[in-house]
Amino acid sequence: MLGVVATLSVHPDVESAAQAAADLLAALITEAQAARGVAHVAVAGGTTPRRTYELVGPLLANAADIEWWFGDERCVPADDPDSNYRLILETLLRTPSIPIDRVHRIRGELDPADAAARYAAELRGGAPLDDKGVPQLDVAFLGLGEDGHTASLFPGDPALEIRDRLAVPVVAAKPPPNRITLTLPVLRAARATVILATGEGKREAVARVLAGPDIATPASLLDATSLTLVLDEAAAPAV
Ligand code: 6PG
Repeated sequence: MLGVVATLSVHPDVESAAQAAADLLAALITEAQAARGVAHVAVAGGTTPRRTYELVGPLLANAADIEWWFGDERCVPADDPDSNYRLILETLLRTPSIPIDRVHRIRGELDPADAAARYAAELRGGAPLDDKGVPQLDVAFLGLGEDGHTASLFPGDPALEIRDRLAVPVVAAKPPPNRITLTLPVLRAARATVILATGEGKREAVARVLAGPDIATPASLLDATSLTLVLDEAAAPAV
């Protein structure tokens, strides 16, 4: 039985899914800017979102009025090929109208606990708070692992139970192992959450997300009522 609340946006192939994700991201940013003057967006790492980040820059009418955050980061220097910040530098930040000082880098070169604490403090001081005092992103743009992880919240990780911290260090199953991740309270507080997932390898994880909350599938613990899954047909559940 598929869950009934997450929204599916299915496209024929990887390129059209990437374009749809860029269009959705730009629309959500514009909506936030119209309502509050600025958009707070957390971006994902990995390989899937690269094309979306290449496409979205020119779609942003007010590219300067966006605060860019990260859903997670690997504990590597900013110029490391594994750095999510470097991914953004190579794609999104090729748009000259996006000010680099509004990109809140997680300092992966520091001690992980120190980097997480610094990032959490910056997020708490830099983003609006919801009625529970949790920093409220306008968009959490996320990926999905084949094991159902999202950001760097992996199955079985104690970080999944954390409710009193905004960002924590983890040791992940996916290399590089040492990472910093936003915690579920922050991801669930986001006004809109988007998962971009493509390829046959993600199909089972997508189905598990749609089947409802299950601690074994971290992405299924996101707030499904504000979640859109942008998929290609290979990752989409069979109709
Ligand atoms: C990361 C990501 C992670 C990623 C998934 C999917 O830093 O690794 O934030 O959550 O989105 O692992 O990765 P791919 O897009 O490479 O499949």
